[in-house]
Amino acid sequence: MSTKSVLTGLQPSGALHLGNYFGSIVPNLELAEKHDKSIIFIADLHALNSIQDKKLLQEYVLDLATSLLACGLHPDKILMFKQSDVSAHSELSWILSTLTPMGLLERSHAYKDKKAKGQDATAGLFGYPILMAADILLYSPDFVPVGKDQKQHVEITRDLANKFNHIYGGTVLRSPEPVISEEVGVVPGIDGEKMSKSYNNTIPLFGTPKEIKKRVMQIVTDSKGVEEKKDPETCNIFALAKLYLSESELADLAKKYETGTIGYGDAKKLLFSAIEKYMTPMWTKYNELKQNPEYVLEVLEKASKTANIIANRQLEKVKKRVGLI
Ligand code: ADP
Ligand code: TRP
Repeated sequence: MSTKSVLTGLQPSGALHLGNYFGSIVPNLELAEKHDKSIIFIADLHALNSIQDKKLLQEYVLDLATSLLACGLHPDKILMFKQSDVSAHSELSWILSTLTPMGLLERSHAYKDKKAKGQDATAGLFGYPILMAADILLYSPDFVPVGKDQKQHVEITRDLANKFNHIYGGTVLRSPEPVISEEVGVVPGIDGEKMSKSYNNTIPLFGTPKEIKKRVMQIVTDSKGVEEKKDPETCNIFALAKLYLSESELADLAKKYETGTIGYGDAKKLLFSAIEKYMTPMWTKYNELKQNPEYVLEVLEKASKTANIIANRQLEKVKKRVGLI
């Protein structure tokens, strides 16, 4: 167990899929488990940039917390709270915005990408990296695990921490190190493109077995018949099976592909059975938690108390440095 600390934020943006699970939840939980102090917060203030529906936002927040617990997040080991329960995030964000150059934000991907698509960006999206810097700097973590697309935001965080310390003196704000999980490959969707809710090609992580089986049966393949030889490496079913089958089971399946002794229909059934076997304990836990949302909300509330103590202590130091108190 490392004595270093890690922090990451996850946006509540709808039902999780297998891509989110293998690409984000598993590596985040693994890293958090290895460190003494770990924080995974639900970034609901960030989500306001894209979700402007009260019911949906609340549903997504609760569902993300429920899903994380069902995936094995241990609330005594990992602090899981809701960002908006800790008002220090918004306060520090404002203070940091007063020393953030416009040019830095203009170069930021989230904003630039939206503009490039010809969509209107809000000031919230423009200032997104500042809020993210506040999220991080309130807790002084050693490491921030993020997807590749978020690396720039952690770099902006480092820039802002250095700038603040330079202007106001001392080392109140501590630069974190980004941790990019490069080795996590892209999980393909049922059409072979990157699995993403924007492409409508996902297999949900939590759904009824019937729903999940239906999606698995919709995986796109070529039209080779049962007895034709098939290439496992170009098959979408096989790519997903790699996430669930043992090495020997995979070798066995590959052989059946290459010798034309399995059809795609049976390969899909085999994949679904593997998913079912792997997921059943998590599905059970998820369904139990869904029946008990009070417990999930209690976990979030309890964690927010601790988070408020840590964050307010840091905010007070910042306010003293700048002259607000
Ligand atoms: P979506 O593309 O469905 O909108 P998000 O952007 O909300 O997904 O994904 C949140 C995180 O989940 C990403 O930062 C990334 O780490 C991970 N992730 C999403 N889709 C995939 C995928 N197909 N393969 C691997 N990781 C993924
Ligand atoms: N921007 C991150 C994302 O979209 C979520 C996030 C918000 C975050 N604040 C953070 C991640 C702080 C790490 C640290 O995925």
